[in-house]
Amino acid sequence: MGFSTDCIHAGQGADEKTGAVITPIYQTSTYKQDGIGKHRGYEYGRTANPTREALERNVAALEQGKHGLAYSSGMAATDTILRLFLPGDEVVVTDNVYGGTYRLFELVLKQYGLSFKFVDTSNLSLVERALTSKTRLVFLESPTNPMLRVTDIRAVVEMARSRGALVCVDNTFMSPYLQNPLTLGADMVVHSTTKFLNGHSDMVGGIVVLNDDARAQKLRFLQNAVGAVPGPMDCWLALRGTKTLAVRMKQHEENARVLARFLAGHAKLAKVNYPGLPDHPQHELAKRQARGFGALISFDVGSLERADHVLRSVKLFTLAESLGGVESLISHPATMTHGSVPEADKNKLGVTPGLVRISVGIEDVEDLEADLDRALA
Ligand SMILES: Cc1ncc(COP(=O)(O)O)c(C=O)c1O
Repeated sequence: MGFSTDCIHAGQGADEKTGAVITPIYQTSTYKQDGIGKHRGYEYGRTANPTREALERNVAALEQGKHGLAYSSGMAATDTILRLFLPGDEVVVTDNVYGGTYRLFELVLKQYGLSFKFVDTSNLSLVERALTSKTRLVFLESPTNPMLRVTDIRAVVEMARSRGALVCVDNTFMSPYLQNPLTLGADMVVHSTTKFLNGHSDMVGGIVVLNDDARAQKLRFLQNAVGAVPGPMDCWLALRGTKTLAVRMKQHEENARVLARFLAGHAKLAKVNYPGLPDHPQHELAKRQARGFGALISFDVGSLERADHVLRSVKLFTLAESLGGVESLISHPATMTHGSVPEADKNKLGVTPGLVRISVGIEDVEDLEADLDRALA
């Protein structure tokens, strides 16, 4: 089926018992068993839940993968992936990943014997140099947060595969509407469903999609054993969100292209980061690798004071963490998403005190442009 059809129908049909058109919220922690060892496929809510399964099938279809596994947050999904690896294993990571991913890797998982090498994965020779015989995973985010750098996923997959390492891509920024890492050869794709997949800023969740049966079984075991599972209500909200993913993403994208052009032409801004702009260093790669450029834009207003002024002056953009909702958000990466990244690393990445990031919503774009214009003036 086409993408929009899959958004609405994949993984879910009318409820067998009642005919309910929308997947019910199975708000239960346990299930009646008919005798010793006799149950109907469901024993306990952490292990399985029909609403969760519908979401898992739905997003797996959208990512063109075989298996989906939902978690209680994007970070819980990433954490569970990393539990596939053992002390001594090395992981090569995009240096510009979401700050929470950096925190999980450096401040939590490193203590358990994994080691992480943060490199600019948009530079393939740096990736090549970082790979060793101990590398088991390359963890990519493309485009990155908040600098919007793009990595050649297919090329990294080739390099990693030749060394026996897996590749996982955080596809949160693009959503499956714009990019499918599995079709580019990646082994796993991870999402914060909190963002574009849900699209309404009313739940927190994560999901992993992959094709390999044995690895999926391990992740299923870990999902139950570790227990970072989403509640049925949150799964239902994410599942309702994915129904409109295609129409939302189309509008997010259209609005973002208009605002990126507006910002790039603004006299007060020296630097605007958006892969859809022709002067973006990986513009051609972004065109080749994805079906669009997404709805995240970052720009430098020159200083912390000016950033603070802009963030306080906007009326329609809301100053808040997160992204991917129908409403436009504005944030200050240096103190918000990247608050846990050391100062020296922030400077190296370009996460300067004057950097502002916007998540472009689906409001009327004229209103969004007028709001930014007023705040920048
Ligand atoms: C790119 C990216 N990946 C992962 C996450 C973590 O997801 P969650 O907040 O659902 O744990 C975020 C959160 O902002 C993100 O932006």
